[in-house]
Amino acid sequence: MNVLCIGAGYVGGPTMAMIAKQCPEVKVTVVDINPDRIAAWQSDTLPIYEPGLKAVVEESLGRNLFFSTGVDVGIADADVIFVSVNTPTKTFGQGAGRAADLQYWEKTARQILANSNSDKIVVEKSTLPVRTAAAMQRILDSGSGDIHFEVLSNPEFLAEGTAVADLETPDRVLIGGHDTERGKKAVAALVALYASWVPRERILTTNVWSSELSKLAANAFLAQRVSSINSLSALCEATEADVTEVARAIGMDSRIGSRFLNASVGFGGSCFKKDILNLVYLCESYGLSEVAAYWQQVVSMNAYQQDRFVGNMISQMFNTVAGKVIAVYGFAFKADTGDTRESPAIRISRQLVEERAQVVITDPQALTNAQHDLEDIADGIRFEADPYAAAVGAHAIAVLTDWDVYSNLDYARIFSVMAKPAFIFDGRNGLNHRALFELGFNVYAVGKTSLCHF
Ligand code: UDX
Ligand code: UDX
Repeated sequence: MNVLCIGAGYVGGPTMAMIAKQCPEVKVTVVDINPDRIAAWQSDTLPIYEPGLKAVVEESLGRNLFFSTGVDVGIADADVIFVSVNTPTKTFGQGAGRAADLQYWEKTARQILANSNSDKIVVEKSTLPVRTAAAMQRILDSGSGDIHFEVLSNPEFLAEGTAVADLETPDRVLIGGHDTERGKKAVAALVALYASWVPRERILTTNVWSSELSKLAANAFLAQRVSSINSLSALCEATEADVTEVARAIGMDSRIGSRFLNASVGFGGSCFKKDILNLVYLCESYGLSEVAAYWQQVVSMNAYQQDRFVGNMISQMFNTVAGKVIAVYGFAFKADTGDTRESPAIRISRQLVEERAQVVITDPQALTNAQHDLEDIADGIRFEADPYAAAVGAHAIAVLTDWDVYSNLDYARIFSVMAKPAFIFDGRNGLNHRALFELGFNVYAVGKTSLCHF
């Protein structure tokens, strides 16, 4: 079997590397229009930072895993084509700011049609609005009709930073197909591929529309948990309740469960906001305005949490941060990734610069992306790889990413080089607040009573 994946990004690259590792008899080719990305996948420095991924790629590279820019040839040779091109939020025209921009998706469908001379199974890997498969099928069926294309939905649930483990032992693999002879055959072929390493009972098969919607729904539910606990963090700060204790108490109810209850500066990442906005738009398109408003609130709460964090910084620092040096610890949208897409650090850093603070950003993996994200306001910002150097002369530290390294720094040393009074705003609740307070810091965390020396 020849497997092709179009799109060598955060999803396509790791997923195909895992298939190649687990199915040595299958030839897996990953193509992308971006030659730099393709070169990077075959170099010592992969295009994305993902723990454990290098070893998985190396195991199959050149054996049954190949990276190439030859999209057309790849299509011609393939039996199964995964499509994992990006589907960002539309920035123009109808649905701008909410609907998915499907231009790359449609272009890819037309490219598949133009270069196919045998039957293909086409698998949606990208997260898409419900019923996109129908549009794809129509494009693919607009040819001469001699070739059969069977469209399946197989959304990816891997999270960045844990992609290798998520792919190796997934909670579930979801495959949506049509209830026709050919549909069932295609689903069976994809099930067989995953069954090489995933226990059969974890492979769910369903209809295409349920599969497409399940991906949006899973991300919406996860993001909703973060927004729910973040909403309570505001109430905790007002009432001397502690959000960590509340999360622990409610999380021990097995019906609620303990994961995804960490209050924070808000969720980021390429998926949550995009997918919920997409869900909202979809609901509105079907005339379900109350349902749309319900999910919209998850996104609104997330923006509120970031604005609240900056507002608190300003008010605690005597109502002005103008001219003050603020060290931002962590720019990635979460730990163990260099990805900064939709990172809360973007909005927060921009607001601080608007308030005329001098922002110094440090991050173990995301500085290149951070520079790119903030290039239009580069004048107000310094980038510094070493967290100790970033703290020199700083009036405040804002911890925005949950990197382990920030819990294990020598804060006595950091305190000694900062301007006084020294403030620390822990947007991830990962630091030892009592110890920091005893060192002399004024400590503010999310959803907790502040520890302040005055
Ligand atoms: C993408 C989608 O954004 C997401 O909705 C889905 O859930 C998974 O796939 P990701 O892999 O993170 O996510 O995207 P990205 O890292 O941007 O990779 C997409 C790749 O597709 C890029 O390398 C881009 O160059 C490539 N691409 C894009 C093509 O090869 N052809 C195109 O026409 C457009
Ligand atoms: C998510 C989904 O988890 C994954 O299944 C899907 O395929 C893609 O989207 P990802 O974007 O990689 O994965 O990150 P995730 O681990 O879900 O975290 C999202 C954001 O929520 C991060 O910014 C994280 O810091 C934040 N978060 C998460 C919290 O603030 N609190 C929590 O308790 C959990």
